[in-house]
Amino acid sequence: MHITGNKSLSSRLWLDRQMRDPFVKQAHKDGYRSRAAFKLIEIDDKFHLIKNAKCIVDIGAAPGGWSQLLSQRSSDDARIAAIDLLQFSPLDKVKQFFGDFEDEKNQQAIIKYLGQKADLIVSDIAPSTMGHAQTDHLRMMRLVRSAYTFTENVLREGGCFVAKIFQGGQEKAFLEQLKKDFDKAMFFKPKASRSLSVEIYVVAMGYKKCK
Ligand SMILES: C[S@@+](CC[C@H](N)C(=O)[O-])C[C@H]1O[C@@H](n2cnc3c(N)ncnc32)[C@H](O)[C@@H]1O
Repeated sequence: MHITGNKSLSSRLWLDRQMRDPFVKQAHKDGYRSRAAFKLIEIDDKFHLIKNAKCIVDIGAAPGGWSQLLSQRSSDDARIAAIDLLQFSPLDKVKQFFGDFEDEKNQQAIIKYLGQKADLIVSDIAPSTMGHAQTDHLRMMRLVRSAYTFTENVLREGGCFVAKIFQGGQEKAFLEQLKKDFDKAMFFKPKASRSLSVEIYVVAMGYKKCK
């Protein structure tokens, strides 16, 4: 009973926050599938990553807000591969892969579909959180490192990488690695990312370590 009470309280708080959130309202108004779309809008408005990208991968893509933006802002002949454990409604130019990103056969299917190195790899992938900050951080770092291992094999020379991280300690070493592998790499906290949230993004441009 006690757990149920807490659950319904946290659901009520979540619903209340959603209803007051200006990005939720704006996403609804602009027809975006998620408020997360605004995070990529801010990243792209600042760093201009999408316009010239013809071959793009979206990791952890459901319900499709980032894929929607990638589809809108890329050229007509762009090819976008999006993967998630959850399915979402189809989008123009977006080929959906349904399953675990960490599964080697799903990664191979994406590589086969692209048929060439990627210009841009974005990852908004996140584990379901447990409410224990350090555990959530470590689980997130495991996923983001897996996204980066894939990126190391698939990104073209000069390509760009964006990924969500939960701060908690290991993100600094990860950024240092990106600084070595790219011309430029930095943390970026979009306004659409709640200020109290440990979430932050890494943006890395100009891949130098192409295999
Ligand atoms: C924050 S949501 C992404 C939101 C998305 N960028 C948007 O704008 O709609 C994170 C996603 O990561 C996915 N995810 C978590 N672990 C995954 C895994 N191992 N393989 C594929 N997707 C995963 C979840 O299913 C979830 O949909």
